[in-house]
Parts: sequence; structure tokens; C-alpha cells
Amino acid sequence: SEGVEDMTRLSYLHEPAVLDNLATRYELNEIYTYTGNILIAVNPFQGLPHLYDAEVMEKYKDASFKELSPHVFAIGGIAYREMINESRNKCILVSGESGSGKTETTKMLMRYLAYFGGHSAAEGRTVENQVLESNPVLEAFGNAKTVKNNNSSRFGKFVEIQFDDAGRISGAAIRTYLLERSRVCQVSDPERNYHCFYLLCAAPPEDVERFKLGDPKSFRYLNQSSCYELDGVNDADEYLATRRAMDVVGISEKEQDAIFRVVAAILHLGNIEFSKGEDADSSSLKDEQSTFHLKMTSELLMCDPNSLEDALCKRMMVTPEEVIKRSLDPLGAAVSRDGLAKTIYSRLFDWLVNKINISIGQDSQSTRLIGVLDIYGFESFKTNSFEQFCINYTNEKLQQHFNQHVFKMEQGEYQKEEIDWSYVEFVDNQDVVDLIEKKPGGIIALLDEACMLPRSTPETFSEKLYQTFRDHKRFIKPKLTRSDFTLIHYAGDVRYQSDQFLDKNKDYVVAEHQDLLNASKCSFVAGLFPPLSKESSKSKFSSIGSRFKLQLQQLMETLNSTEPHYIRCVKPNNLLQPTVFDNANVLHQLRSGGVLEAIRVKCAGYPTNRTFIEFLNRFVILAPEILKGEYEADVACRWILEKKGLTGYQIGKSKVFLRAGQMAELDAHRTRVHGEAARMIQGQIRARLTRERYVLMRRASVNIQANWRGNIARKISRYMKREEAAIKIQKNLRRQIAKKDYGRTKSSALTLQSGVRTMAARHEFRHKLKTRAATKIQAYWRGYSAISDYKKLKRASLVYQSKLRGRIARKQLGQASQGDRKEETENERKVEVSIQAEDELDKTFVVHSEQSDDAESGDEQKPKLSI
Ligand SMILES: Nc1ncnc2c1ncn2[C@@H]1O[C@H](COP(=O)(O)OP(=O)(O)O)[C@@H](O)[C@H]1O
Ligand SMILES: [Mg+2]
Repeated sequence: SEGVEDMTRLSYLHEPAVLDNLATRYELNEIYTYTGNILIAVNPFQGLPHLYDAEVMEKYKDASFKELSPHVFAIGGIAYREMINESRNKCILVSGESGSGKTETTKMLMRYLAYFGGHSAAEGRTVENQVLESNPVLEAFGNAKTVKNNNSSRFGKFVEIQFDDAGRISGAAIRTYLLERSRVCQVSDPERNYHCFYLLCAAPPEDVERFKLGDPKSFRYLNQSSCYELDGVNDADEYLATRRAMDVVGISEKEQDAIFRVVAAILHLGNIEFSKGEDADSSSLKDEQSTFHLKMTSELLMCDPNSLEDALCKRMMVTPEEVIKRSLDPLGAAVSRDGLAKTIYSRLFDWLVNKINISIGQDSQSTRLIGVLDIYGFESFKTNSFEQFCINYTNEKLQQHFNQHVFKMEQGEYQKEEIDWSYVEFVDNQDVVDLIEKKPGGIIALLDEACMLPRSTPETFSEKLYQTFRDHKRFIKPKLTRSDFTLIHYAGDVRYQSDQFLDKNKDYVVAEHQDLLNASKCSFVAGLFPPLSKESSKSKFSSIGSRFKLQLQQLMETLNSTEPHYIRCVKPNNLLQPTVFDNANVLHQLRSGGVLEAIRVKCAGYPTNRTFIEFLNRFVILAPEILKGEYEADVACRWILEKKGLTGYQIGKSKVFLRAGQMAELDAHRTRVHGEAARMIQGQIRARLTRERYVLMRRASVNIQANWRGNIARKISRYMKREEAAIKIQKNLRRQIAKKDYGRTKSSALTLQSGVRTMAARHEFRHKLKTRAATKIQAYWRGYSAISDYKKLKRASLVYQSKLRGRIARKQLGQASQGDRKEETENERKVEVSIQAEDELDKTFVVHSEQSDDAESGDEQKPKLSI
């Protein structure tokens, strides 16, 4: 769960629920939570810039209260808006223990108010800037590192911001309370003195040289603790930043120099030591070093060194007869020295506050203001002294204011609803307040009395307290003590050690110191110690307690004239670590911060109220018959309450007001009704579920069966298919074999046939060839014999012809010449040769024709005859 933004929305408003809600939200970095109108802020101990940037400021500027998640800006916003719209003065009270984030919250508030009521940047150095810059100045001089907080404010602060008619910041007044003076000369390890001392030691060399400063370790007021530096803080930078802030606030360069001169003087003053003087019970400067520091102190304060030494070591005794100068012993001189240091420092601080106030300026015309109070929370240590007494007194006063306010708000609500509220008892701490401040007879009054009696000791003072308050409910005398006393505060018991009450309550400046510094040549220093008026110098004694009481009274008057808003800061752990939430620690703070008290006040009356509609929505279930009839809402509510037998509740005009525990009782009834209904619903649902399961199972089993059957059928069909295939294979195989057998037989038959046929064909062919060859031979032979016959014939005819022709010719030629006879024989021989050639030719022809007959079978070729 993310927790609720407003605790009053928790159904049960008790400690565990409140604590758990805070822890849950803290884990989510939701550090703000409302309890009604009170804002609870848990210190995150880590920067959460997204929570505070300009965008967020803008967002909260336009939102109404509780529209957005809880935030310090929402408180600032509502205070500002109500101040403007309703012309009411406002105050915001920020409280919590040391280190819980009060000062940071206050600064955030001031920043937000400045944002709301600021001037444009063009207007230059503005009031709101001065207001904001007063913070670093006051922090440098009024804050110190303590075990609880590295930047602990050692004073209370009330800042009154004034607004003009246009709602813009027109002035401011800062009031401070009870600066812790003892810190100036007494620091316990591992704490630090006020920041300004360390800043000055880290100043630029020329300043350090001018004031003869140096290492902080060399000053007694600083070296009582071994802590000199702060994590994440550079004192040299802080020095410059403080000076810049002083510029803005309106402290002149000259004044700044004087301020730091006084700071340096205090450091030197602390180093002056004393030893026994020549006379009995007298003292003198211890050594060279002390002389040097005395000289430095007097130089810086611009007073006479001898007067300074006298002021430290001697006291004037005024008796009716004469004025006696008495020496102080070394111890007394040291006390005197520390007293002087504390006085100077507190005067310096007051001067700063005063100066800032003058510089910012008060708007006397202003009718509207918002006050912001950042004041120390309830303290209870192992040893508690006068400071704790004053602080816890303050807290009692503020608690009273808080109770009255919360009570008043409750009352207002009851009146608005016109219910009878005489019932509501109011938790009052008036008795403790009286115990402390009543005049005469209160503790402060008794303390003042004791301070004025010359022979008082802590023991006589305590004895007086024991006697006076023997029967007081809020006062206890612890056993085995002669000076302690315990007060029962609203936030718990605190045991005070009264040994230093008397000293710490005395607020007078030793006349010698007063005279010394008033005579300073430095106007600034002299101004810190203005001459006393005759009146006040005569009054025997002024008391810090009484003055503080007066201041508180004024503060309460201011607060009472304004309408308050409360912010309770909570420190989630003592380790100053983020994300650690220590339940016991927080619970203690919620108790002592009055948050649980506020809840208790609420519980004393009618802690829970609900509008009729809300109430009916939640509880009509207890009387369902109402739904059937037509009833007014209030009648219906009463019906339910009566039916359940409750008494003491109140029905207002629009709301039902319940006494503590009644909501829980109704809730218990409601839970019971719900329980029964739930049981019935469960039964129905179970039956339904069972039925559904049965249906499902049946469907599933049918499914399974069908599947199984299908499976079997598929198996069978698969088997059948396989069988079929086997048969087919067998058939094919058989056919194959048969086919092969057939093929073989066929091819053998064919081979056989073809062989036989070939043989026959060849036979025939050979026969044909033989026949043809025979024919050819015959043809050739016939041709040859014919040609031979023809040739014989032809030759014979030729020979005959030629012989004949020759005879004829010789007959004719016989007459002619004998020579011719030779030619005649020649011719005869020629004929014979040609006949021989022709024979030769015939022979070749026959051979040739026989050869070609073999190549071209059947083709009869006529033998070629050539002549
Ligand atoms: N809202 C915040 N956001 C971040 N850090 C915070 C916040 N509030 C407080 N702190 C841290 O806690 C420290 C102590 O806060 P401070 O306001 O000085 O406490 P207080 O004034 O109550 O003693 C601061 O120095 C800062 O580190
Ligand atoms: Mg503070």
C-alpha cells in the first residue's frame, strides 16, 4: 500500500497505524503527511530537489488545499491565500526536535512566501531578498554543529513577514529567542562553536593577518573539541558567502569589518590565562602569550589594555560607606573573562538581529502578516540545565496553544453541526505552565528570588522548590539528591540539575566590563554597550528567566491574534542517515510533538465523523431493511446505530459523530455480516466450481474415449492398408518374374528364328551370288568369244583388204619406181603392228571385266570394246 495522505482517513486512529503510515510513505520518499490540518514532515536527510523546484511552486500556487499531495508549499499557500482572501493574520509554527528539519522547512516556507508575494526581478534589491538572505547571516552567528545536527540553530526565531494591500511583501521583523551563550566558551567534543569563528579563521590571508588569527586549534574556545571541519562545507567559501549575504541585508563594509574584529577579539580573549598574583587571592597574566592576547584583544576592541586587565582581574565592591576594589583569584578572573566573552557575543548577535530588522524595515501600515516560528523542540538529556528548562517551558506554552487550537477547531466543527459538545473533555497542561511561570510562587519567580538573596546556593534553591511543590502533581523530588528536581511535562518526565540555574539566570553585565567597552574608541563596540540609564542601573537585578517569560508572553499574544498552521518535523533516526526509519524514535517524537496528543484530543470528543452518505454507504449492510423503505438519511443512520445498541454518538446536520471505538464496533458488525455473506458466497461458489469440474471431467472422459476409439480404428485401417499393399507388391513381383521368363523365352525364340532365317538367307544369297557370277562368267565368255571372232574377222578382212590394195597399188606403181617398193613393205609392217596392239588390248579388257563383276553383283556390264 502507499499509505494515506491524511492520517484522519485512517480507519483506526491509533499509534501503530499512524506510525506505519508514516514509515510506508517515507520509504517512497513521501516525506509529508497531513493529520487533519497539521503537516508532518519527516526529514529525508537527502536532497530531494524535485520536491522544491520552480515547477512545483507554480503547481501549488494554483491548487487549493489538499488538492495536491501534502507539502510545505501547500501550508504556505493556504496561509497566504486565507490571509489575502479573509484578511486574517496567519502564523505557521514549525516544531520538532533538533535536526528534524525545522530550519530547512522554515526557509522553504519563506522562499515560497517570497515567491508568492515577491516583486519582479527588475525592482532590484527587494525586501524578500533581504528576508531570505537574513538566514545565512543569522546561521553563521547563531548555528553550530552539535551531535544532533551539523547546522543546529542555537536560538529560537520568529519571522513576521508583512504584506501590503496588493499582497506583496512590504516588510519583515525577526525576533530571536534565547541564544545559547555558554557555547561561546564551552564546547564539548565532537561539537563545534558557532560557525563564524571557523569562517573567520579560514578568511582570505589579509583578514587573517589583520586579526592575528590562524589555525583554529590555537584558540581555547575552539580547541576544547577536536572537531574543526564540517563534511561538505568549505569555511573559506562560507566566509565569502556570509559577507555577500551581509551586503544584501544592508550591513556596510565598515560594519562587517567591525563585526569580524569583535569575533576575532573574542578568540584572543579566550586565550588570556591567569596565574596567582603577588597578593593573596589575586591574579595576574600567566605568561607572554597571555600578554600578547590581552594586547590583541584590547587592540581589536580598541580599549585600554590596562583597563581590560583590571576589568578581568578586579571587582568593585560598593558598600554604603565606600567603594572597595577587590582582586579576583585566577579562577574568578577566568570566570570573569568567559562572562565578558559571552556578553560580547550575545550583544553582537542581538546587534545583528536588530540591524537586519532596521535594514529590511517594518511596514507600519501593514495589516496583514504571516509569522513563521522556528523554535527548538522539547529536550530531555542526561543532564538538563537551565537552557532545557527554558526550552521545555516554551514547548509547554506552545503545546497549550496547540491544544487550545485543536480543541477549538473540533469545537467549531461540533458547533457547525449543532451537536452537544459538553461531553468533550479538554486535555490541559495549564498546571505545568502555572508551576513554571506563576507569579508569585512559580519556579521562575522562586529562582529570581533566590538569585536576589545574597546567600543562596543551588541547595537552598532546591530546598525551597521541594517545600513549595511537595504535593504538586507535576513536580517530583528524586531520591538521593539535594539539587535535582523532575518535572512531568506533557511530553515526558525531565530531571533537571539545578546547580547552574542561579548563575545562568543572572543577566547582568559586570559594571567594569560595561564601563570598559562603553569607553571603546570603536563606535561599533561602544554601541554594543550603551550607557545604562539611571533607572536600570539601580534595579538590583535582571533575570534571564523573567525576560524570557516576557518574550514568550509577547510571542503567545502574537500567536493568539493570528490563525495558526502547524508543521511537525520528525527526525526519522539519530544517525542523520536517509531511508532509515526508527519506529521507537519517531513514536517518541510524535508523542512529544503533540501529534498523538492532537489525536488524543480528537479521541476525547468524537474522533470519527462521517457524512450521512459515507456512513450509509459503509454500514447500510447492517440494516438492509432500510433499503426497502424511504427514510431520511439521518433517520437511517440513527436506525443503524440504535439497532446495534450504540449510545453517546451524535447526529449532526450532515454528519454522524462517533465516540472513540464506536467505528471499530460498527466495523466489527460489518465484518461479521461480511463474513456470513462471504461464507454463503463461498458455499455457492464451491458448489458451482464442483459442478463445473464434474462437467469438465465428463467432457474430458468422452473426449478421451472418442480419441481412443479413433486410435484403434486408425490402427485397423492402417493394418488393412498394409495388407493391401503387400498383396499389390506380391502381385507385381509375380508379374515381374513372369514377364522376365516370358521375355527370355521370347528373345531366345527370336534369336533362334533369326539365326535360322539368317542361315537360310545367307544360303540363298550365296546361291544367288553363285548364279550371278556364273551368268556373268558366261556373259563374259560369250562376249569374249564374240569379240575374238569379230576381231579375227576384222583383221582378216584388214589383211585381205591391205594385200589387195597393195597389189592394186603395185600394179599402178610398178611403172613408177623401185623405191616405192620399200615403202610398200614398210606399210605392210605397220599394219601388222597395229593388229598386234589390238590383240594386246583385248586381253586386258577381259581381265578387267571379270574383276568388276565381283564388286557389283547382279549388275551386268557390257564389256567395253575399243578399236
Ligand atoms: N526538506 C529537507 N530536504 C533535505 N534535507 C533536509 C530537509 N530538512 C532537513 N534536512 C537536512 O537535515 C538537516 C537538519 O535540518 P535543520 O532544519 O537544521 O534541523 P532543525 O532546525 O530542526 O534542527 C539539514 O541540515 C539538512 O541536511
Ligand atoms: Mg534549526
